[in-house]
Amino acid sequence: MASAGSMKALVVILCIAAGTAHVVVAGRIDDGGGLEVMWGGASVSPDGQVISLSLDRSSGSGFRSRDTYLYARIDLQIKLVPQNSAGTVATCYMMSEGSWEAHDEIDLEFLGNETGQPYTLHTNVFTNGAGQKEQQFRLWFDPTAGFHTYSIVWTPHHILVVVDGTPIRELRNHADKGVAYPSWQPMRVHGSLWDAEDWATQGGQVKTDWSQAPFVAQYRNFTAVSTAAAGGGYGQEYVMMDAAAQEAMRRARESYMTYDYCADGRRFPQGAPPECYMT
Ligand SMILES: *[C@@H]1O[C@H](CO)[C@@H](O)[C@H](O)[C@H]1NC(C)=O
Ligand SMILES: *[C@@H]1O[C@H](CO)[C@@H](O)[C@H](O)[C@H]1NC(C)=O
Repeated sequence: MASAGSMKALVVILCIAAGTAHVVVAGRIDDGGGLEVMWGGASVSPDGQVISLSLDRSSGSGFRSRDTYLYARIDLQIKLVPQNSAGTVATCYMMSEGSWEAHDEIDLEFLGNETGQPYTLHTNVFTNGAGQKEQQFRLWFDPTAGFHTYSIVWTPHHILVVVDGTPIRELRNHADKGVAYPSWQPMRVHGSLWDAEDWATQGGQVKTDWSQAPFVAQYRNFTAVSTAAAGGGYGQEYVMMDAAAQEAMRRARESYMTYDYCADGRRFPQGAPPECYMT
């Protein structure tokens, strides 16, 4: 019988042989699985496969990846807080370390809602400390009834947000036209669950119902694949989207996008930021 250690080594070798350059190896999610519980009431299931983040009046909770990545595809399966999740925010994001003023960040935030009302998936990207690229979406399924896969694909070519395999947002690298793009600061993956009743739900009108606490969101099956070099160990699908993926994204945005900073004339009376007009 091979020991767990040598099985892990075998998995690594197989992945390298297959040219997929997996950064994370199978195992307990809080060990070989690549994440570590950081703060608050976060716990790992006995089989090591699921991290549960909890939120009560005294604290939220969070985890982070053990490694940092300079270009990666991140996949994480999440089951969000069920029932009345108003006021709560569950996140999955990548963020650079070092100076906050110049930090880079790719953000997915799930804004809770009253029972039966839809969650909002809020997305944003920061480069050198500057964000203001918000887009928001409804999900086309109940994200509390089961696990769904949320992915961030960050390559030298673009940043993609992908939900259950469907791309919903693409931010192309237009650095050659003077638009800042995260390109040199390694980022760490973070997950958290916290209280934001002041603004999260219907603009802060619906407060957190603490009698429902503790609130719990579950995370599992974290994978990270390096996408640093085009063709260097990852597929062409991470370099450019093919026609089918573009069409799937167009349809998802048409049906489910509820806010787009590029279309917010009140916020940008002089015209939307330049990247909004670039293809
Ligand atoms: C909550 O539900 C309301 C009513 O359907 C909707 O307008 C709102 O966008 C939803 N999401 C949040 C985060 O408030
Ligand atoms: C875990 O994630 C990988 C990569 O996203 C996926 O291929 C695999 O099917 C997932 N496993 C389960 C049990 O969902």
